[in-house]
Amino acid sequence: MTDVFGTSHKDVHEQVVFCADEQSGLRAIIAVHNTALGPALGGTRFYPYENEQAALADVLNLARGMSYKNALAGLDLGGGKAVIIGDPARLKSEALLRAYGRFVESLGGRYITACDVGTYSEDMDIVARESRHVTGRTLAHGGAGDSSVLTSFGVFQGMRASAERVFGTPSLHGRRVGVEGVGKVGHRLVDLLREDGAEVVICDVDPRAIERVRQKHPEVEVVADAQALTTSDIDVFAPCALGGALDDTTVAGLRARIVCGAANNQLAHPGVEKQLADRGILYAPDYVVNSGGVIQVADEIERFSMERARAKAAQIYDTTLKIFGIASDEGVPPAAAADRLAERRMSEVGRIRAIWLGH
Ligand SMILES: NC(=O)c1ccc[n+]([C@@H]2O[C@H](COP(=O)([O-])OP(=O)(O)OC[C@H]3O[C@@H](n4cnc5c(N)ncnc54)[C@H](O)[C@@H]3O)[C@@H](O)[C@H]2O)c1
Repeated sequence: MTDVFGTSHKDVHEQVVFCADEQSGLRAIIAVHNTALGPALGGTRFYPYENEQAALADVLNLARGMSYKNALAGLDLGGGKAVIIGDPARLKSEALLRAYGRFVESLGGRYITACDVGTYSEDMDIVARESRHVTGRTLAHGGAGDSSVLTSFGVFQGMRASAERVFGTPSLHGRRVGVEGVGKVGHRLVDLLREDGAEVVICDVDPRAIERVRQKHPEVEVVADAQALTTSDIDVFAPCALGGALDDTTVAGLRARIVCGAANNQLAHPGVEKQLADRGILYAPDYVVNSGGVIQVADEIERFSMERARAKAAQIYDTTLKIFGIASDEGVPPAAAADRLAERRMSEVGRIRAIWLGH
């Protein structure tokens, strides 16, 4: 049973809203985790959850993750997320998305939505017909478009910072980088790595995704699966497929000295970060290095400028180095250092709201 009111300060969500519109089939949950830094920004996941409990557990978890991600991305935004329960291929309709938009609007800007698994910029354009609190819209509607552009750029910055820490130079020239999953983010990451002169090895369960990379970069090596990739002779492992890429077995066989990739929730369970540290593998925390996408869509709030958003995403390099510094100073793994830094910002900057403005 998921505990909405939480059991520790990390688990407490400010607000959880259940929304239903019977005619369109909408069943959604919006979770606002923390608004200490500003309105809660996070995408809408449209997914056929097995039941309401599974959807609730997921949205609470994802909303909390967004508070931490947005805090470390330096945004004046809190963390939130929404889920729509059902198969998007069967259920998605104009009426459903607009009904959802009205619920988003009803929160008065406490929650700002965006795309996630199962929702696309075109869907956000429809949601935005009912709500002002929508990002991730199409370029045609003044939106930021496909967020994987700056997600991959940000991961690359995190990887450069990791290389600086481990090899003493940010360049990936001549390093062997294994990319698991060459979808929207992964294939762009391959472009950046090749541009920098890295050797790239890839794997993907979808042959079309592999083919797209091979068309552009015939020299890229392809291996059968994630296991073949992680146990091969690579310097850097970049998980860019699904979550949970780093479990006990993967970490035990991993030959890379750095893990830095786009996938959310890469650590399969608590304790994996320590196993990585014990093996001398530097882990660049996922939510720090993959925040380029949220930086891209958040920029839409002030009229989108790719140039400004890219400059902000470039700061992921410094943030990643800062986290490595805190980790060694405080003797904790980088994942714990990232959490501490995010909590510090939420608390220090959030506290200034207590200053009375007199109006
Ligand atoms: N798109 C973004 O802006 C963004 C932002 C932050 C985080 N992320 C995370 O980054 C990851 C990749 O996102 P994306 O937008 O590129 O998704 P995507 O669906 O476009 O790409 C994922 C790729 O991984 C492949 N894949 C799935 N299972 C695999 C497996 N077992 N082994 C190898 N390949 C496998 C898929 O075939 C696909 O090509 C996801 O975990 C996502 O949550 C994405």
